[in-house]
Amino acid sequence: MTHHWRLDDGRQTLVLAARGGSLPECVYWGAALPGGENLETLVAAHALDVTGGMLDETPGLSLCPEAARSFPGQPGLVLRDGGGTPLQPRFSFAETREKDSGLHLVYRDAATGIGLTFRFKPDLETHVITCETTLNADRPVHLHWLAAPVLPAPHLSDELIDVAGRWCGEFQLIRTPWSAGLRARESRTGRSGHEHFPGLIIPARGTTNTQGEAYGFHYGWSGGHRMLAEELPDGRRQVQFGHATGSQTTPGTQFQTAPLYLAYSNTGLNGCAVAFQRHARDRIIHQPNRTRPVHYNCWEAVYFDHKLPDLQDIATRAASLGAERFVLDDGWFGRRDDDTSSLGDWQVDARKYPEGLGPLINHVHALGMTFGLWFEPEMVNENSDLFRAHPDWVLGPMDQMRGRQQLVLNLARGDVRDHLYARIAAILSDHAVEYIKWDHNRVLPMPDAAQTSGSYALIDRLRADFPQVEIESCASGGGRIDFGILQRTQRVWLSDSNDALERLRIQHDAALFLPGSVTGSHVGPRHCHTSGRSLDISMRAWVAAQRHMGFEMDPRELTEHEAKVLADVTRWWKGNRDWLMRADILRLDSADPAVIAELQLAQGGSRFVTFAAKAATSAQISPRPLRLTGLEPMTTYRIDLINRSAAPGLSRGSPALKRGPLDVSGAYLMGHGVTLPWHFPETMWVLEGTRL
Ligand code: DGJ
Repeated sequence: MTHHWRLDDGRQTLVLAARGGSLPECVYWGAALPGGENLETLVAAHALDVTGGMLDETPGLSLCPEAARSFPGQPGLVLRDGGGTPLQPRFSFAETREKDSGLHLVYRDAATGIGLTFRFKPDLETHVITCETTLNADRPVHLHWLAAPVLPAPHLSDELIDVAGRWCGEFQLIRTPWSAGLRARESRTGRSGHEHFPGLIIPARGTTNTQGEAYGFHYGWSGGHRMLAEELPDGRRQVQFGHATGSQTTPGTQFQTAPLYLAYSNTGLNGCAVAFQRHARDRIIHQPNRTRPVHYNCWEAVYFDHKLPDLQDIATRAASLGAERFVLDDGWFGRRDDDTSSLGDWQVDARKYPEGLGPLINHVHALGMTFGLWFEPEMVNENSDLFRAHPDWVLGPMDQMRGRQQLVLNLARGDVRDHLYARIAAILSDHAVEYIKWDHNRVLPMPDAAQTSGSYALIDRLRADFPQVEIESCASGGGRIDFGILQRTQRVWLSDSNDALERLRIQHDAALFLPGSVTGSHVGPRHCHTSGRSLDISMRAWVAAQRHMGFEMDPRELTEHEAKVLADVTRWWKGNRDWLMRADILRLDSADPAVIAELQLAQGGSRFVTFAAKAATSAQISPRPLRLTGLEPMTTYRIDLINRSAAPGLSRGSPALKRGPLDVSGAYLMGHGVTLPWHFPETMWVLEGTRL
């Protein structure tokens, strides 16, 4: 007897099947199948032949490959009983449940008392399938590894794209050729981490940003994940995602993976990107439709040197440039004059603010801006009243290495969470704070899932009691970005790099998973503090305008020209943000490797903007046409270069776009491409398009 289940979202179909009572396997995942497809036939067709050197049957690549059933690769589950003896369950079918939360497939192994439940839920609008695995045990067990539902990877694929990075260099796409054996990525730092964003895209052969098939995965967990992509000895390929191994440090009777998000595309990498962007924006984030205010963050202007008159002056200037939210960064609490002290002491520093934060907040409000405040709740400095009172609240041994001179508080403890809640709630109750920048500047001493669950619980409690307060997830820039934290926050601080050239690349690659509305991007100082590079204001402003815009330079450094350019671009952003913050970000296949380009397409397709940045000097002398994407081929669009006045003197010719708008078909724009005027490296063309 065969069981089979079919999941459809209008774009992708996923078929699960099981012979007899064995665990189900995914026998099809790809483009939508016809409604009448005979699943029995599919299952029969899926069975592999065997030849010399093989077992007499092929062990199933199930949703949780079982070590005890001759599976030749990495198992989906590694656990021990309370006494430390390895358990190797062999699961049998128990029941199926269809609920609002999706399809639940329940399996049990009577001998070990272990049960597994797989949940799958397709989303008909975002075209993301969410799935997860839950383990139940009759007696406490030690869990080493539990994979979310395990899926096969396509054979017509030559490489994997996963994501690495570093401080100021997040979202670096790594392409690795498939070969026999295992590619493992594991974030063991207790954060999703700069180094290992929990995402994977498997392109079919020949896939580009705009065409071909791709399979996207994202594991929504902030505590560090493990990914396995393995080519088995028989040639099949499997993908597993779960929490970092060993991060469940105590025995238990129930364990659940984080949700694994799946997106199949036959419109290139962009199909996965748009599915993830929409899912993050419309399903993961709470309050997705609030207008995104222009931020001003004072960190790179004053660092720890908080002086009320300076901050008021800066706020006044920021408001005149167009800022709508003023965020007071690190340095306002305890005796925090540098990063050696005071984390944990969440009281306003009376030396810097003798009358409290009121005068600054009132000033900010009088300028028409809202007020945001920086916290780093999970951390403590040894030089703090909190540490002196509760040295036992630290996570891990005291002789552990320090990171930025700080230690981590043990958020698995209810008393620690209660204390932090009370301190933060007091500040939020006493002040008109609309926004928290929630930082996390060091790694954990060891992977620990309970710490992440504790952080989630603290944020959830604060959110429940202060629903009007938005939160930004920051961890030295992009060290904690994933759909788990985004369920509790509204924005991510993508990187500490405010170097527009670096930021351009980082946010372009992050768009494979993140929508513009959650991706903070700030105009940094003229001389970038983290790269030493100097960039023109217009490049800095337009790069910030590609995402949720903000400023982070000291506005007192701006020349009149710089202030004007910045105010103009900010005005443009505000005029367009209503549709821009709900647009799909489509990465373009640039014929010139020096050009990083994307098209942001309004919902419904009535308008778009293309940002084409020359990130380096081109090899060839004249610009190559840039093919657009996502347009209707037989429709005419009016395209207009809105910053044509930025053309340098060395652009000596007279291409039509330098003179005015053009009306051309989508077929032309996508098939031939738009030829932009010559421009300098480190500058950006901005091309608007309207459907006529
Ligand atoms: C690291 C963050 O990424 C910065 O933006 C800033 O908030 C500092 N921490 C403050 O200590």
